[in-house]
Amino acid sequence: MFFKKKIKALINREEVMKGQLPKHVAIILDGNGRWAKSRGLPRTAGHQEGSVNVKAMSILCADLGIKALTVYAFSTENWKRPVEEVKFLMKLPIRFFDEWAPELMENNIRMKIIGNEGELPLELQEKVREIQELTKNNTKMVLTIALNYGSQDEIKQAMQAIGSDVANGAIAPDEIDEKLIESKLMTAGLPPLDLLIRTSGEERISNFLLWQMAYAELYFTRTPWPDFKEPQFLEALVQYQSRNRRFGGLSEKK
Ligand code: IPE
Ligand code: IPE
Ligand code: MG
Repeated sequence: MFFKKKIKALINREEVMKGQLPKHVAIILDGNGRWAKSRGLPRTAGHQEGSVNVKAMSILCADLGIKALTVYAFSTENWKRPVEEVKFLMKLPIRFFDEWAPELMENNIRMKIIGNEGELPLELQEKVREIQELTKNNTKMVLTIALNYGSQDEIKQAMQAIGSDVANGAIAPDEIDEKLIESKLMTAGLPPLDLLIRTSGEERISNFLLWQMAYAELYFTRTPWPDFKEPQFLEALVQYQSRNRRFGGLSEKK
């Protein structure tokens, strides 16, 4: 026990950076509500705290040399929540993107939004366009925020696009391959997903990146999102580095 604690205490950025890092990390940001409840605060306070953490973790990822970070902020199913909570969640990114813009520029981070943008409030749609335009030439890392995103919806839209190309004769059905499907997904252009993290104890995917996670390593932790900070993230990376990724082949070590 003592030994284990000691090892944990020794994890630092430099050590982790010596090992192989994932190029693309995705996080299901879960547990904001429970984090707030456990402190006697309203759920919205958890979302506020969670958003501040997205900023801190994005900068950390960029500093570590991770090329892409994709975070799940609002799912196509989250509209089922109470109106007041949904309203708050639609307002939060507007304020947040404004506060955040200078730091994104300073840290050379490009922001991209995936999801059904057309169903977002107009003010948020406008802000999304603005922040993507502002940061479009940044090259250190792509931060993708999934807002009103559902993976089944994404796959459905890809199928519709391919279906219409087939119907108008632009491609033949046997020309449909994995590459073509990937090119029609909202994540087109991002590196393959290496590591998927879900915070707050739930061990499910909740309609996130179903196609993209084909060979991702999965990491579940009980820590709620607002408490998932640098030490917890480094621990996830150390775990990732200890995994033996075989991609269906055989381990080199055996
Ligand atoms: C994640 O935290 C944020 C969103 C899904 C918007 P939750 O709001 O799901 O927090 P819990 O799971 O209720 O604790
Ligand atoms: C998943 O969290 C969606 C996001 C983090 C945006 P939920 O809290 O909505 O997931 P379920 O309902 O527990 O599956
Ligand atoms: Mg939740």
